[in-house]
Amino acid sequence: MSDTVAGLLAEIADLGRDPVRGGWSRPVLSDAELGLREWFVAHADKRGLDVHTDRNGVLWAWHAPEGRYDDAVVTGSHLDSVPGGGAYDGPLGVASALVAFDRLAAEGVGGRPRAIAVFPEEEGSRFGVACLGSRLLTGALAPERALGLRDPDGRTLAEVLTAAGGVPEHLGPDPEALGRMGVFVELHVEQGRGLVDLGRPVAIGSSILGHGRWRVRLEGAGNHAGTTVMADRRDPMVAAGALVVAVQRLARAVRGARATVGRLEPTPGGTNVIASRVDLWVDVRHEDDALTLALVEEIRAAAVLAAAEQGCTATLVEESFSTTVDFDADLRDELSVVLPGAPVLATGAGHDAGVLKEHVPSAMLFVRNPTGVSHAPDEAVEDDDAEAGAQALARVLRHLAGP
Ligand code: GLV
Ligand code: MN
Ligand code: MN
Ligand code: MN
Repeated sequence: MSDTVAGLLAEIADLGRDPVRGGWSRPVLSDAELGLREWFVAHADKRGLDVHTDRNGVLWAWHAPEGRYDDAVVTGSHLDSVPGGGAYDGPLGVASALVAFDRLAAEGVGGRPRAIAVFPEEEGSRFGVACLGSRLLTGALAPERALGLRDPDGRTLAEVLTAAGGVPEHLGPDPEALGRMGVFVELHVEQGRGLVDLGRPVAIGSSILGHGRWRVRLEGAGNHAGTTVMADRRDPMVAAGALVVAVQRLARAVRGARATVGRLEPTPGGTNVIASRVDLWVDVRHEDDALTLALVEEIRAAAVLAAAEQGCTATLVEESFSTTVDFDADLRDELSVVLPGAPVLATGAGHDAGVLKEHVPSAMLFVRNPTGVSHAPDEAVEDDDAEAGAQALARVLRHLAGP
């Protein structure tokens, strides 16, 4: 097989393009994401890999010599995206896995079984909980909770899954699939400028900032925009505005903290309607989990205050929280031997490798992103760097596969 990473990504460049937001929108179980999964299956089939989908919708493509499906060297990433995202967050790791497997096949590398895994809903951009597939697989998320999660159109995961031909009852912890993994290495586009500043194409991951999502619901009184005098209003949108400003102020006061309101939904959402309710989501991150949770409590207090000032009420609920992850130190050291001189970098972005790390020694590789931008259309990777990343991944997999 003579595919290049850039060539593989070019094949899917039109899938899920978003003419309205710009970039790509590939929510899990959308036509675009299902198309991407088909594309991956076709490539895995072409390579003679044994492909199957597990009970949680994780796609697996196995090279299983002598029918061995154990202690495998696993790589992979995801194919879903945020709304209006870039082309590389997820697909780079999947395309690089295919190219790395080609290299190993060409070299006749034997040793341990190996597999590529594609995890669904890594971004949590449809059902709100990031790394949904790996959380279900590992038992970090109960299937009952997952099935009740709603997408922005109000449809539950159970409904969407059923409509797509899936079986909601199949979701749940999968010790068999998990137990087959001996080690996991996820390659990902860097979501910052660390490698640009260092002038290097590939880095080894050290850690992931603790991060979570909290939903704030502000409730007031819906009414007419023209007939309701200003003094008579209980407008949750005004409270939301004050809260967004407060989130920025509070986060800036905590060194190293990041807090974002990236999604806000007024109900009913009419230009000439005072909203009755506003939901907004706050994404909070810090390397110190206690500081993350303390900041969330300050945001809760700010929400209550901002609501009270408008005669509204506020509630804040946790939707997900992932503690800070340090990747397996021994594995990281091994990677440093295989990739001499590769810098070791932390990331503020969440990944399936961070969830799997609790169960399987896990590591990450990052590939230089010349813009440093991610979760936006300007995310970028040079073709040569993409190839360097895949070759670095191949070296790591070859080393881990053993003789
Ligand atoms: C996912 O990429 C996240 O870090 O939010
Ligand atoms: Mn990603
Ligand atoms: Mn992402
Ligand atoms: Mn991510």
